[in-house]
Amino acid sequence: MSFVDKKEILKTFVTLRDPLWLKKESNNMNPKSHLIESLIGLGATMLIAAGLGWYMLNEPTRILSAQEDVLNIQLEEAMTLYAENCAVCHGLNGEGIGATPALNNPALVTMPFEEIQKTISRGRYQTAMPAWSLLDGGPLSDYQIDELVLLIQYGDWTETGDRVVNLGLAPLVPFTTEADPALLEQIGALPDGATLQTAIQIFASSCVSCHGADGVGTSIAPALNDTDTREKTVEDLTRTLSYGNTGTLMAGWSNILTPEEISALVTLIKRWEEVPTGTIPAPDVPIPTTAESIALGSQLYSANCSRCHGPEGQGTPRAPSINVQSFFVDKSDQVIEQIITLGVPGTAMPTWGDRMTEVEIQAIVGFIRQWEATAPEVATLTRPGGGGPPWRNNTTTTDTTLFGLLPLPSSSTNTTEASMTNGNPSISTHTSGGSQTSSLLDWRVLLMLGVLLSIAFTLISKGWSELRQRR
Ligand code: HEC
Ligand code: HEC
Ligand code: HEC
Repeated sequence: MSFVDKKEILKTFVTLRDPLWLKKESNNMNPKSHLIESLIGLGATMLIAAGLGWYMLNEPTRILSAQEDVLNIQLEEAMTLYAENCAVCHGLNGEGIGATPALNNPALVTMPFEEIQKTISRGRYQTAMPAWSLLDGGPLSDYQIDELVLLIQYGDWTETGDRVVNLGLAPLVPFTTEADPALLEQIGALPDGATLQTAIQIFASSCVSCHGADGVGTSIAPALNDTDTREKTVEDLTRTLSYGNTGTLMAGWSNILTPEEISALVTLIKRWEEVPTGTIPAPDVPIPTTAESIALGSQLYSANCSRCHGPEGQGTPRAPSINVQSFFVDKSDQVIEQIITLGVPGTAMPTWGDRMTEVEIQAIVGFIRQWEATAPEVATLTRPGGGGPPWRNNTTTTDTTLFGLLPLPSSSTNTTEASMTNGNPSISTHTSGGSQTSSLLDWRVLLMLGVLLSIAFTLISKGWSELRQRR
């Protein structure tokens, strides 16, 4: 390939375009265009300098906000730890239950960090407060205990209460309950009835919070009235009751109960089949709800129940109304939960307990209970699609479908559901969505773009003026 003069090519290129206006301009505007270039260069330099200065000024705030991010992550994790381990004794919002002290106590905020850390790690001897540190046989690492201290000193207890409810760990049975007097008297007539009576009263005051009414178990502790537990040896049961099971919520009771009382409880567990259901009753504690749990309940109801019970629970020819005063009056949340979990055998009402988690069923109950305030005295059934001319189909059907299609509630419930399955409620999902958008508009990115644009502009205008000079 022979040598080709670059200048020649450029010349032809420019001549081909024949920029008449440029020729005129280049004759009398050459010095001026240099001025423009210098100004642009100066501008770009100043922009970079200003950006760097701003960045340096912002550095301390940036570090602070990074520290804040870490604290927020730790508080997030601590809320879940609290829900799983502490809410059962210290309450939904750290308010304390019965004799267990409150943790939302201002005195704890000013208490030295190490002191609270020590209480949680080692527990309080001769009280129900167990040791939580791995070193003392507990289930939590030092890091997790530090997170819990942070929660106690900096956390938001309302948000923590919502977390407990969303994870389905809200204590639904109060800390203590009263045995049914009539049934208790009946038990007194059994052989060695007095021992059973004593044990039932201790169970009602000390064990029901975890092991549930009639010992049926809860989401945090196993059933004690089942054959598996009954078949354990007296020695095994006595050991568990006296010393607890290391690393679980089951604390040892030998410091609090006498050997006779522990032996009575073991007798109760062994003979539970003789104790009538309802002796240690489930009190009517409303299932707590949050905005998230209602949204989840609403979504699950539309997807699974509305085709039989109607979009607003009015009932259809297929299933009765569950949005009517007579339904709400005599059914506690626990009863509704049980109907949904077990279904109604011999009818079209399916068993939902094997398809949904306890959290999901409780969310539906919370959603249905909301209707009580506006529930009619007499139900008017809805006609599901197909029954008669379209104008006879109840308009509420279309209404609710429309609402179901609105992107806002459905997308927020999706987040709720997805996040609930991995036990990490949606606050994090929401914020990550927000920070994604804001990271695109981050000032550092904008500054880089500005610098790149001005460099490109300077280069282009420089190139142009070069071309003009060479002609
Ligand atoms: C089995 C019930 C139970 C559980 C579970 C429990 N605690 Fe306690 N906690 C207690 C009792 C009872 C006390 C009061 C001890 C006393 O009388 O000094 C207490 C006291 C405390 C105190 C001291 C409060 C004060 O005012 O001095 C802290 C802090 C504490 N618990 C944190 C926790 C944390 C964090 C968890 C979860 C990891 C937890 N507890 C789980 C029963 C419990
Ligand atoms: C703070 C919650 C809590 C309280 C209060 C509690 N337990 Fe437990 N209990 C548990 C947990 C959790 C387990 C399961 C431990 C495990 O996984 O090994 C358990 C296990 C047991 C077991 C062994 C069950 C088995 O199948 O092996 C017995 C027996 C028992 N508890 C009796 C009692 C009695 C009696 C009381 C009242 C004096 C009581 N518990 C109070 C949480 C509790
Ligand atoms: C295939 C149709 C069908 C579906 C789907 C269905 N149900 Fe039912 N449900 C029924 C029928 C039929 C009954 C009446 C049973 C009876 O005769 O006692 C009933 C009864 C009930 C009752 C008791 C009403 C009363 O007055 O005692 C409740 C509560 C209930 N259903 C809730 C639900 C919930 C919540 C869902 C969704 C998770 C659901 N049902 C899904 C058919 C259905």
